[in-house]
Amino acid sequence: MFRILVGLLALAGTLAPTHAGAQATVKVGVIAPFSGGFAIWGTQFKNAIEVYMAENKGMAGAHKIEVIYRDVGGPNPARAKQLAEELLLRERVQWLAGFVFTPNALAVAPVVTQAKVPTVIFNAATAMITRQSPYFVRTSFTPWQVIYPIAEWAAKGGGIKNAYIAVTDYGPGHDSEEAFKKAFKSSGGTIVGEVRIPLATTDFSPYFQRIADAKPDALFIFAPAGPPSVGMVKTWADRGLKSSGIKLIGTGETQQIDLPSIGDSALGVVTAYHYTEGHDSPKHKKFKADLKRMFPNDPVPNLASVGAYDGMHVIFEVTKKLGGKIDGAKAIQAAKGMKWESPRGPVAIDEERDIVQNVYVRRVEKVGGELTNVTVHTVPNVKDPWKEINPK
Ligand code: PHB
Repeated sequence: MFRILVGLLALAGTLAPTHAGAQATVKVGVIAPFSGGFAIWGTQFKNAIEVYMAENKGMAGAHKIEVIYRDVGGPNPARAKQLAEELLLRERVQWLAGFVFTPNALAVAPVVTQAKVPTVIFNAATAMITRQSPYFVRTSFTPWQVIYPIAEWAAKGGGIKNAYIAVTDYGPGHDSEEAFKKAFKSSGGTIVGEVRIPLATTDFSPYFQRIADAKPDALFIFAPAGPPSVGMVKTWADRGLKSSGIKLIGTGETQQIDLPSIGDSALGVVTAYHYTEGHDSPKHKKFKADLKRMFPNDPVPNLASVGAYDGMHVIFEVTKKLGGKIDGAKAIQAAKGMKWESPRGPVAIDEERDIVQNVYVRRVEKVGGELTNVTVHTVPNVKDPWKEINPK
């Protein structure tokens, strides 16, 4: 059914003057959670998109950009697929974007491939996602990209000899586990235990009790940013792992927006991430100021904000370059090799349609009475290591 509709749509597209004429509006469909436990992701995406739109007066060259939002609720692949089809067939969007969760991005891969619609992934991070459709381009990160640097740091500079791994049991968690193991072991570290925790888990105590009993030097964790990541950090402190000297290392578990709800327990946690709130650059300062001015009551930016802001940059620049005629293959070709200054630091899109960027190793400290991620080490221009280890 979808195949037939796409065929008809392609035919209609060649006849419809709105798609071909100069000044035509280019529509972007954004699929993200705007409700439920992960709703903050949708808000952060939308705010950053609106800042980008305002800074560019909503125009990509001669073309007005119109963004249409759809609420996927959370990790829900069937709904993500349905929304993608609806946006393509009914709204006739020329770009798709968004996608917080790996299973949602994977579910739209066949739809996107069939419709040849360029699709910008603002978050979903599992390394292999971009290989599931040639029309995907990603402006977030991969677990491998941020974990390699922290695993090496832990074994070499951090004085950590052995570690326990606890990850959420789905794509990015599996990537995290594999990346940590490989980098930590090759830097001389030993893994003393590992556990995969179901995505829907809210009580981490039984898992963390076993980890406490194993007495590792450190616990490495991955959980999707939001209630699960906050829950893991709190359990590490509340279950006595912290006080018994087990260090906590991770990636997105100590975002600035989550630190107030974690509280002082977060002090000393070391993470590596592609976005850090304290990054010192004029571009970042302007981004933060524009967000604050337009959305004074919303939280400070996080990875979702830069994923969406940079994703819009790809959409605007490519739309300009193609003169508003969005051909999937040409769009992706134009996105490859793009380089720009993002609020997160310098970035580029590589041949595999993933983002090359700095990785910041940070430690939670109190600065001026406020819990903050302080950068202790920056690894410049990191490419996704998974793609290099697993060539096509
Ligand atoms: C993912 O599902 O790929 C994902 C979700 C949330 C994160 C990171 C990765 O914070």
